Amino acid sequence: MEKEFVMIKPDAVQRGLIGTLINRLERTGLKIIAMKFLHVTTDLAEKHYEVHKGKPFYPALVEFITSGPAVAMVIEGPDAVKITRKIVGATNPAEAAPGTIRGDFGINIGRNLIHASDSPENAKTEIAIYFSDDELVDWTPTIAPWFTE
Ligand code: RTP
Ligand code: MG
Repeated sequence: MEKEFVMIKPDAVQRGLIGTLINRLERTGLKIIAMKFLHVTTDLAEKHYEVHKGKPFYPALVEFITSGPAVAMVIEGPDAVKITRKIVGATNPAEAAPGTIRGDFGINIGRNLIHASDSPENAKTEIAIYFSDDELVDWTPTIAPWFTE
């Protein structure tokens, strides 16, 4: 089973889209195993976006992600990373396909609503930034056999 780290960014929280975005992920059958409502600190943001340090958009990115509350989540399932990234859509909402979160709700690359780790390895690193091991809940939905053979 693969784990994916997701963050509902401050713009989506301010716009009242938490439930809508969680619903889009939840209805796939991927399983939520952790969730946290938090105001990301500069320290956490710098760890989270370390790979982007030095890029022109980095300062604005850190400022934005720390500008208000966000929702951090871990979701699990087969191909969780690939499936989540497909639902999230391309980085720039102008290029994101209709039906994706960014394609349906966004107009600007710096306000693209949601973050999802781009590989299982990076998901592992990012999960460890926001969650301790004992915050990841081990459970099996009773409906699981209707989602995977
Ligand atoms: P994310 O990490 O947030 O899931 O997004 P992503 O993989 O699709 O995009 P990534 O390349 O990792 O960039 C991280 C975030 O930085 C902002 N960004 N701005 N102005 C720009 O050219 C630019 N490029 C990236 C976006 O908010 C992006 O989500
Ligand atoms: Mg990324």
